[in-house]
Amino acid sequence: VFRNKLSFYAAAKVSSSFPTPDLPEVAFAGRSNVGKSSLLNALTRQWGVARTSDKPGLTQTINFFKLGTKLCLVDLPGYGFAYAKDEDKDSWEELVKEYVCTRMGLKRVCLLVDTKWGLKPRDHELIDLMERHQTRYQIVLTKTDLVFPIDVARRAMQVEESLKGNRSAVQPLMMVSSKSGAGIRCLRTALTRVARF
Ligand code: GTP
Ligand code: MG
Repeated sequence: VFRNKLSFYAAAKVSSSFPTPDLPEVAFAGRSNVGKSSLLNALTRQWGVARTSDKPGLTQTINFFKLGTKLCLVDLPGYGFAYAKDEDKDSWEELVKEYVCTRMGLKRVCLLVDTKWGLKPRDHELIDLMERHQTRYQIVLTKTDLVFPIDVARRAMQVEESLKGNRSAVQPLMMVSSKSGAGIRCLRTALTRVARF
């Protein structure tokens, strides 16, 4: 699945411009700067299709990408960034919520969490929302290259503990570094399965 060519499909600022859901879809959500676009690039080994940057809040639309005719990958705008105006921020959040709750064909949301920082209130908000709407989601700890392995393990245990009893959370959680490539293959395998069933 991930050998297919990644191509830009559509960008949406409002739900009415979401493209037709004709493929199984996997979305990447999480705080700004957590590494969503980088992960998309690392998973597909196609750099530069999804843009990345040091400045939080770069991705401000929902961006849809197609992997051949197998899977649609969706880069959601990050929440909790500092550089946007308040009213813009609100509408972007609404957009993400609407996507996560209503999107046909959405098989899985990868909720990216910075290993160094762990789950924040905004993450819990999104988790609660997905639990209510029975949206299947998977926590992915990112940037594991920036912390000691022991702290990665600690963080994983802490996150798993706080997900106990959550019915829509897919286990086990994943740990990745788009920089070193650690955990990328494992996540690719898990998402390939999502594309098939
Ligand atoms: P928004 O689009 O603003 O929501 O951000 P994003 O979540 O798409 O983050 P992006 O992929 O643009 O990455 C943000 C910054 O983190 C960039 O400077 C990346 O180079 C860096 N980064 C991403 N993944 C990793 C990683 O695994 N390790 C390290 N060390 N840095 C990373
Ligand atoms: Mg991005």
